[in-house]
Amino acid sequence: MVTSEFSILHHYDTIFTEGVFQVGNAALANVFRSLSAPGPVRVLVLFERQLLAFYPALPGEITSYCGHYPDVLLLAAPPVPVDGGEAAKDMAVVMEMCRLFLQARMCRQSCLVMVGGGALLDAAGFAAAIFHRGIRPVRIPTTALAQADSGVGVKNAVNAFGQKNLLGTFAPPLAVLNDSRFLRTLPPRQIAEAAAEAVKVAMIKDADFFAFLQERAMAIMAGDAAAQQVMVRRSAELHVRHIATNGDPFEWGSARPLDFGHWAAHKLEMLSANRLSHGVAVGMGLLIDTQYAVLSGMLPEAVFQALKELLAAFQLPFCRAPLEQRDRFGRRDVFAGLEEFREHLGGRLHITLPTAIGQKIEVTEIDGERMEQAIATVVAECGEGQPTSNQA
Ligand SMILES: NC(=O)c1ccc[n+]([C@@H]2O[C@H](COP(=O)([O-])OP(=O)(O)OC[C@H]3O[C@@H](n4cnc5c(N)ncnc54)[C@H](O)[C@@H]3O)[C@@H](O)[C@H]2O)c1
Ligand SMILES: [Zn+2]
Repeated sequence: MVTSEFSILHHYDTIFTEGVFQVGNAALANVFRSLSAPGPVRVLVLFERQLLAFYPALPGEITSYCGHYPDVLLLAAPPVPVDGGEAAKDMAVVMEMCRLFLQARMCRQSCLVMVGGGALLDAAGFAAAIFHRGIRPVRIPTTALAQADSGVGVKNAVNAFGQKNLLGTFAPPLAVLNDSRFLRTLPPRQIAEAAAEAVKVAMIKDADFFAFLQERAMAIMAGDAAAQQVMVRRSAELHVRHIATNGDPFEWGSARPLDFGHWAAHKLEMLSANRLSHGVAVGMGLLIDTQYAVLSGMLPEAVFQALKELLAAFQLPFCRAPLEQRDRFGRRDVFAGLEEFREHLGGRLHITLPTAIGQKIEVTEIDGERMEQAIATVVAECGEGQPTSNQA
């Protein structure tokens, strides 16, 4: 027998900045400087084409910026626009990106800088992870959700065979740069998407953050830039800290606390044929599991009411229809989400439940009757709101 055992230390910074491509803002240049390479690092920049509608000067800014730091980086080609959004999460797009890397003569020492929403970062991150078995990715997320959650972690993925996020890798970035300037052009419903995940992580990890969200929800939705930045920053910190300290960054185990509320959310998105956005579905999932915790005697009813009010303040509506779909035995279709979630975890079912604002436990069994009662209570309490469309 020959035993192989080795470990690799991963280290990356999530940097909060304003005007990342303004000459004089050394944050990005310093990422390449930190590599202590013998010469300038070869860099290719992919950016989301849709950003041009809001930031027409972006490619010029990127080029000027890179030209200002010739000692640390060398642009392999002019910045490349790539279509973003969910359609980008496709193997054909990944292959096209790999072709670009080849044309730009990217090697194992080169870096890919990707600028865009969570979907573009997922696709480009996957392409970077497989090209030459991995070139180094630097992420510049441009949506609130990507800055607060999806863009700051260690995963990437594309959709395939009709399944979301089926193909992907774990690939920690070289760095993440969150530029608050990009938040200014986001519509309120994009801010609400990030708020749903912020509420999720606050509920199980940080009572002070929950109180902040209660206090500032209206301001955040009204476009208060400072309050939006606090929400994004604290949410990112909690997500990143969890990944770095929970002992399972590459998700070998089955416990997944950051997926609080997600067993129902994923199923509700499917049952609504994706008419419900992820954030809206997460809000509904949080309500269901929180009500289940109340009925289990582990959480005061007042917490459920506080959560309900907070989600409403973030304009995250409640949609009854997908919860009312039933199979021929009269069982709600959403229940199938529990088994699908267990399969997704690849082991024993683990469901995260709040025991107080800011605290949680993991349970490995769910009482079907009590969950039915929880859903019925949530439906009765929350009534009906306008479903938010993913396509809108
Ligand atoms: N890798 C992970 O760990 C992880 C975790 C959670 C979610 N995700 C993925 O993230 C994706 C969702 O990310 P998202 O919410 O950023 O959506 P998105 O990337 O689809 O972007 C949403 C919309 O915002 C636009 N946009 C981007 N930046 C903008 C800006 N600054 N101003 C105005 N409009 C802007 C985009 O063009 C797009 O139309 C999903 O595919 C999800 O699966 C990944
Ligand atoms: Zn989520």
